[in-house]
Formats: sequence, C-alpha cells, structure tokens
Amino acid sequence: MAKVAWRLGRCWCSSPPQVIGFPVVQLHMSRTAMGIGQKDFENAMNQVKLLKKDPGNEVKLKLYALYKQETARQNYVDLVSSLSPPSESSSQVEPGAYRKPPGYETLVVTSEDGITKIMLNRPTKKNAISSQMYQEIMLALKAASKDDSAITVLTGNGDYYSSGNDLSNFTDIPSGGVEEKAKNSALFLRDFVGCFIDFPKPLIAVVNGPAVGISVTLLGLFDAVYASDRATFHTPFSHLGQSPEGCSSYTFPKIMGSAKATEMLIFGKKLTAGEACAQGLVTEVFPDSTLQKEVWTRLKTYAKLPPNAMRVSKEIIRNTEKEKLHAVNAEECRVIQGRWLSDECMNAVMNFLSKKAKL
Ligand code: COA
Repeated sequence: MAKVAWRLGRCWCSSPPQVIGFPVVQLHMSRTAMGIGQKDFENAMNQVKLLKKDPGNEVKLKLYALYKQETARQNYVDLVSSLSPPSESSSQVEPGAYRKPPGYETLVVTSEDGITKIMLNRPTKKNAISSQMYQEIMLALKAASKDDSAITVLTGNGDYYSSGNDLSNFTDIPSGGVEEKAKNSALFLRDFVGCFIDFPKPLIAVVNGPAVGISVTLLGLFDAVYASDRATFHTPFSHLGQSPEGCSSYTFPKIMGSAKATEMLIFGKKLTAGEACAQGLVTEVFPDSTLQKEVWTRLKTYAKLPPNAMRVSKEIIRNTEKEKLHAVNAEECRVIQGRWLSDECMNAVMNFLSKKAKL
C-alpha cells in the first residue's frame, strides 16, 4: 500500500509567499500499477519538489489529478486483493458475473405513496456533488417530472445534506485546458440549474444536515424546504474565489432582503436552521430526532392532493418569473466561468485539495 506524506514547500507564487502541500509518495508499493517503473515515478516526484518556477495552476491541477489516479489505482488493486481469497483466480469468474445492475450510482431514487424521493448518496464524501452526481440528478429530475408521483423530494443520505460542488471536479481537465473546462462547466451548470427552474411539480428539499454551496443556493428554486435543527446553510463563495449560482443572486435578496443575502453570498456567513427559517429560506425546522417521521407523514398527506391542481398552481406561481430566472442563471454562469479561471479560485481549490491529501 502506498504511504502518502505531504511535504510542505514554498509556493511558487511570489509575494506574499504561501505555503502549499505537495504529494510525496513514499513508494512502498507492492508493484507499480502503471507501465512506468517505481524509480521513474519517484524521480519525477522529486523533480516536482525542486522546480524553481511556478508551473501554473493548470499544471498543478493536472499533477494533482495524476497523483490521485496513481493512488486510486493502487487502492483499487489492494481492495480487490483483499476481497478475493488467494485460491480464487479471476479466470474462474464467469464473465460479467459481478456486473453491477444498471441504475444510479450516486443517488438512491425511490417512488412510493405519490412521492419520488431523490437521495444524494455519497455519505462518506458528505454528498459532495461529483460530475456524475450532477448528471444523475438531472436524469432523475427529468424522470420525476414525467412519472406518476405528485411531488418530488431531494434529500441526503448520512450526516450531511450536501457539501456542494465536489472540488475534485476541478482536476478533470480536458485537452483544451482550463479555459475549455471552465466553458464546458458553465454550459453544464446552466443546464443543471435550468432543470430546477423548469421542474413542473412541487419540489421539496428535506435538508437532513449541513448544506454548503450549490446545495444551498438551489433552495431558492424549491417550493418548500424542511430542515433538521442540525442543518446549517453555508455559501463560502468569496472564500473560494467564486460567485453565486443557482439563481441565488436573484432569489436570496428577494427571499431575505439584500442585506441578509449579502452576508450569506458575499461574506459567507453560515446560518443555523433557525436563522435560515427566520429569513424565509427554510419553510420549517424540525428536531433532528423526529425530522424523518414528521416530514414524511406530512409529505404523504400533501401527495394525496390532486396532482394536476398542484402542477397548475406551481405554474402560476413560477411562470411569471421563469424568463427572469433563466436570464439570471445565464448571467451567473457567465460570471462564474471567469471566476473559475481566476488565481483566487484556483489557489483556494488547490488549498482544499492539498489539505485533503495531507490527512
Ligand atoms: N469536494 C470534495 N471533497 C469533499 C467535499 C467537497 N465539496 N466535501 C467533503 N469532501 C470529502 C473530504 O475531502 C473527505 O474526503 P476523504 O475522506 O477522501 O479525505 C470526505 O469528503 C469527508 O470530509 P471531511 O472534510 O473529512 O469532513 P469534515 O466533517 O471534517 O468537514 C466539510 C466537512 C464539508 C466542512 C469539509 O469537507 C469542507 O469544507 N468541504 C468543502 C466544502 C466546499 O467548499 N464546497 C464547495 C462550496 S462552493
């Protein structure tokens, strides 16, 4: 198993000097999973440490991504070895015998009692929204908009509702570089948020725990938000060198007034569930111990209401705003595309990823 240590080195940036971490793999691997030799990899890692000139954020992100691939591959090999008893040879396994059934990999989607429940299901990552999870949420919303259920609920599995955008998404850089990545991500974000703007049935959030970033900003597009008293609401965009999305630049000032929205969206003030409720972002707060029982009992009652009446009522409430919301969404995505390319953002993301790898 590779032992990973993080060496703290001087950042290549000039003044003010920052301290950042670099992955130094102490190669105690049983074998090298890639074609290159162990010595070559070790030499390359040493060269990285000795570089005098900052190779730039894009290269740093690529280095991080490649380093993660190397360690992930080794973890995969180790895990598979630990699962198979030594006598079991892979050639004895029927081809496709352990194939995973098709379906969602990052969500659990169920439909009963007139309710489609979309549960974010990466609890060990605090339900951080990976690229795959974004795609699957869009698919699940599209399917829910057409199914027989009367209402749709989004919630999280585990102690978090969601820690927002998975910051590792930044390391998946296409051949066109970070500009292409930012452009594609902005287009994708626009479609993703568009699904929430256009969702035709009552859409409810059951916020089972802390919520961060886009999982908070989107709440302004839900029709009701029920929260555990353990939930918190945090949008640290300035800290991350980013800017608001999910139409929050429009919905938050409208919901809570511009002064309170400023505290959240610009200064990154974290709200308790009680504060979020007082400011109108949350519909009602429940004790964590009774949240599930109380909320689902209530939702089952709501789901028995005539579905077409609910759809039409939502249409009336939302339609006057739809055009505006799409315009806000487009503008937010244009702005955030620029932010993703900024040094402020890249340094903040590198900072998070370095801290993560140090543990
Ligand atoms: N992106 C990527 N990975 C994330 C993540 C995110 N948004 N949130 C949590 N994770 C990962 C952690 O890196 C960790 O991974 P590991 O087990 O492989 O090391 C795992 O989820 C558990 O998180 P951890 O940080 O150990 O839990 P914690 O209780 O100490 O802290 C948070 C939880 C959410 C406060 C912290 O993870 C965090 O600040 N995440 C970033 C939130 C963020 O900035 N989101 C984007 C907003 S725009």
